[in-house]
Parts: sequence; structure tokens; C-alpha cells
Amino acid sequence: MLNTNITDSIKYIGVNDLNIDLFENQYEVPNGISYNSYIIFDDKNVIMDTVDERKTDEWLTNIENALKSKNVKTIDYLIVSHVEPDHSGNIPTILKRFPTIKIVGNSKTFEMIEQFYQLNLKDEQKLIVKENDILNLGVHTLKFIMAPMVHWPEVMVTYDEKDKILFSADGFGKFGALNTTEDWLDEARRYYINIVGKYGMQVQMLLKKASTLDIKTICPLHGEILNKNLGYYIDKYNTWSSYLPEENGILIVYASIHGHTEKAAKEMCRILKENGEKNIKLVDLARADLSETISDAYKYDKIILAASSYNMGVFPCMENYLRQLVAKNFQNRKIAIIENGTWAPSAAKSMKEILSNAKNIEYIEPIITIKSNMNEQNIKDMKELSKNILK
Ligand code: FEO
Repeated sequence: MLNTNITDSIKYIGVNDLNIDLFENQYEVPNGISYNSYIIFDDKNVIMDTVDERKTDEWLTNIENALKSKNVKTIDYLIVSHVEPDHSGNIPTILKRFPTIKIVGNSKTFEMIEQFYQLNLKDEQKLIVKENDILNLGVHTLKFIMAPMVHWPEVMVTYDEKDKILFSADGFGKFGALNTTEDWLDEARRYYINIVGKYGMQVQMLLKKASTLDIKTICPLHGEILNKNLGYYIDKYNTWSSYLPEENGILIVYASIHGHTEKAAKEMCRILKENGEKNIKLVDLARADLSETISDAYKYDKIILAASSYNMGVFPCMENYLRQLVAKNFQNRKIAIIENGTWAPSAAKSMKEILSNAKNIEYIEPIITIKSNMNEQNIKDMKELSKNILK
């Protein structure tokens, strides 16, 4: 996909970042990430977004090669879909390279650009747009659609009426550089849930606006350009942003100190399998990638939380996990609980307290309380819990 033409007049000029250890200084990206950027050639030439300053030189080379390929000398507009620095990092660079370029954004875009870069842009360097404004380039006509909080308040998407392309900002993006062989779904889900997951209502609003457009291609700011089976991707976004489970299945997440809670979680898994459940994922929260386990919670319709008690609360990795889920607006799930405690089990109460801030959580009974190590009564209770889970 790198250095390819999206259409005869639109070229990809983005870059892969394969050396980054943590995206946004928090998410592991084993296959890197791409910062996508595009060029539209017309009577007026446009660049859609810059890239992270980690990749300035490579991006500038891509621009120069694209200009050479069309024998074009200058760029008239830079459209800024999103001011987060992974996309805006080279606004100062592009102003130096093309001093007459006009930056296109909404009023919030320019506030944020000034906050980050203190450029003191003059009026003639800015084109301030609002909902449904049109920019005519010649053959291409660009329409701007505001998408606040998908992922920041200034975000806007751009629709090219000629080639029926939606430049979708962070929407429909994914972790993973271009040209890797990984499947879209898992890394797109992990990206969406962790980065935009809290803003389901705003994503729903954008999907509603997008449904009025005839879209043939989606060009996001990260990950693959989507031009086939668009219904599949839109359907996934609809599910995730509605906080509905994607699959019938069971996620078992355990947080164990000395291995006894782990043993109980594994026994629960065995009982469920014995009772016919095939779609189960068992996760050791102390070792798993947190962002992936958060993403898993959005995937399955039922979750079993198994945790040790700790300091009159719950083992810290479980506490952090649940607080992060709640912060991301996690809701609409059936949850079963296994707690463990040697003298005063407190994990169940603590987990329920945290989840009391999440909407529409239904508990599956019984709550299992283990005192140090699973006993025969616990196993009997787990069998009953399994029946209730699989009802
Ligand atoms: Fe890829 Fe919200 O920035």
C-alpha cells in the first residue's frame, strides 16, 4: 500500500513506523503503526494531514516523489483532520516547505494548532470550515463533516464527492504498519476500543452522517485503506460504538497472587468446556496485554472475573482493569464472579463497587467465594454457575 495510488489523482504518501515501542506512550504495537497521509492532485493540490515528527524525512521524500510523478511544483492546501501530534507533528515543516500553503480546519483545529506549535498563523494562511462546507479543487469537491470526539473535539472527516472517498481521521484506523500480514479485525478492535471506545455516542453520530454518503473507499489516518466489503467494517463500528457484544462466548479474566485463583479460573474453564461451551478465552491479567484484554471485554457477551482479595479490596491488576473498562464506557454485559481471600474475602464486593459505575451489568449467580484454595463445595458451586452461564 505504501507509495501507491488510491485513484489516478489521489496518492498515498504516509509512512510506516516500525521502531515505535509504545504508541501514545502506552500501547504496545508489535507490528508498528502507520501514519497515513494523502495527496490530491487537481487544479488546486491538497495534502490530507501530516505525520508524526518521528517520520519527517521519509514523509517529505514521499511528497517530493509524488510531486515529481505529476510534475507539480506546489501544494495549495493542507487539510488537518485531527491535531493529535501523530498527525499534526509536521505542520511547521509543511509551512516551511510550501510557504503559501493554506491550512484547512475548523475553529477548534486552529486553537489547538496554536497551543501545540505557536505559529501565529495569519488569516490568509487559514481556511476555517464548518459542517458541510465545500472546497472545490477543480474536478474534486471536498465536503467537511465535523466528527467531534472521534477522538478529540476538533476532529473532522472529509468526503471527496468525485472519487467517493471518506477521509475518516482516526475512525476505521488500526494498530499495525501497512504491508504486514495481520488480520484487520483484532488490531482494529484493540485500537478502536482503547482509543475511541469511550465515545460511542459520537461515533454513532458520525456513522449516521456517513450513511447519507455514497462511500466507495475509506482512507483512515492509521492502517489499511478500505475499499472492499465496507459494510463489514461499518457493521463492526456500529457494534462497538453501541457497546454490544460482538460474539457469544466467555472471557475468563483472572488475577491470581499465588496460583490458587488461577487454578479456580482454569477449573471453571474446564467445567464450561465439559458443558459444551467452545468459545472461551482465558486470560492471566497479571501478564496479558491490558489493551488487548480491554478489547476482549467488548468482544464477548459474558465475562467471568476471578480475583484475589488484596488490602480489603481486589488485586491491583484487576482493579486497574475494571476501572479502565468503566472509564471507556463499558456496558451491557453478563458477569460472573469468583473471589478468593484467606481471612476476609473482599474482591467480589470491590469488583461490584467499581462496576456499579457501568451501565446495564447483569450478574450471573452464584458468586463463588474461595477461602485460600478451591474445595469440593466451590467446585459444586462452579458447576451450578456454569449451568446458569450457559442457560
Ligand atoms: Fe491517530 Fe487521535 O490520533
